[in-house]
Amino acid sequence: MKVLVIGGGAREHALCRSLSLDPDVTELHCAPGNAGIAEVARLHPVDILDGAAVADLAAGLAADLVVVGPEAPLVAGVADAVRDRGIPVFGPSAEAAVLEGSKAFAKDVMAAAGVPTARSYVCATPEEIDEALDAFGAPYVVKDDGLAAGKGVVVTGDVDAARAHALGCDQVVIEEFLDGPEVSLFAITDGETVVPLQPAQDFKRAHDADEGPNTGGMGAYSPLPWADPRLVEEVLETVLQPTVDELRRRGTPFSGLLYAGLAITSRGVRVIEFNARFGDPETQVVLARLKTPLAGVLLAAATGDLAAQPPLRWSDGAAVTVVVASHNYPDTPRTGDPISGLDEVAEADAPTAYVLHAGTRRDPDSGQVVSAGGRVLSVTATGPDLSTARDRAYRAVSRISLPGSHHRTDIAAKAASG
Ligand code: AMP
Ligand code: GLY
Repeated sequence: MKVLVIGGGAREHALCRSLSLDPDVTELHCAPGNAGIAEVARLHPVDILDGAAVADLAAGLAADLVVVGPEAPLVAGVADAVRDRGIPVFGPSAEAAVLEGSKAFAKDVMAAAGVPTARSYVCATPEEIDEALDAFGAPYVVKDDGLAAGKGVVVTGDVDAARAHALGCDQVVIEEFLDGPEVSLFAITDGETVVPLQPAQDFKRAHDADEGPNTGGMGAYSPLPWADPRLVEEVLETVLQPTVDELRRRGTPFSGLLYAGLAITSRGVRVIEFNARFGDPETQVVLARLKTPLAGVLLAAATGDLAAQPPLRWSDGAAVTVVVASHNYPDTPRTGDPISGLDEVAEADAPTAYVLHAGTRRDPDSGQVVSAGGRVLSVTATGPDLSTARDRAYRAVSRISLPGSHHRTDIAAKAASG
């Protein structure tokens, strides 16, 4: 099978790594990729928001499957453009990806499907904003309705900061604060059959002890030893399947990866958000534990054949990933800094710990790998238990140097110590 992956972050590196280990994959391509993905896939420069260009590339490569990683091309209709050429694509249509692209739309789908989520108001005027902030009280949760690369949500006790963020959005969702630990649960679906993956926990704040600004995610681990063993089954029944059924009922079936961001509150599970693609960095740990070869599962989702697939097989062990971010991430990350220590990790720590590249590129003059984004790389490790996986991840992180970089030191610490 020839597979083309669209995107160039650590999530796509994790996808490419798993696909490269799948014996059914004979050719692996990625566009645009990054310096790490270049080691397992052939890279192609393409504007990933240009559906016609991506479809041309896929047709030219005679790809059997295209996997779209990030949300922006999905919302822009890139999966539709590929599917229209008769090429199987893993990723929802633009219409279904609105589930991620508009928080107001997601709330509407959840209301119709009876999916538990925070009570909320969609506001467009200053009066509506003040009414909603008053109605819920502190802490305030204010969400830009549109895509904002993980930076559209402000959770604050300060009403002025909440109001200022709300006034800066065209349309805003203001909602009830949900207390309790967060869980990310992904499901692969063909629009009808829903196959949940293993749950993971992400660390959204920039600094240790959940201090600092929200980010795209600073680390993750799986499994969750503290979670109810029935959690996956419960979320499948109360969240994932009803949402997929509702979108099909509306004539906009969702196929691809449905990401449920959940809060485990004292009153039960509540959806914080949906995404229409694999999460980053959770994918790094979830795929590290998946034993079933990936390509066949993604192709089955793309071709409406998931019901015929055998159950997924998982490792009983654990995985931890730690994101190394550039100087000043998430504000105005500095790029162009040299990264060293990558070869040392490959020599000393593989295969139980490895580097997945995110914002990296190889400088054509020096041949050196340099930073090219906010989240630069994601060091992933596996082990028989969380504490071993965690030790391995941090040992590998300690070999890497990137001037000005920062990473959290407490990823999976609480879960590993019970
Ligand atoms: P989102 O982009 O919707 O996932 O929000 C980013 C982060 O903001 C989430 O991971 C939570 O940590 C936090 N958040 C979002 N909605 C709520 C809520 N209703 N209550 C508490 N925290 C929230
Ligand atoms: N890790 C959060 C996200 O992918 O949206």
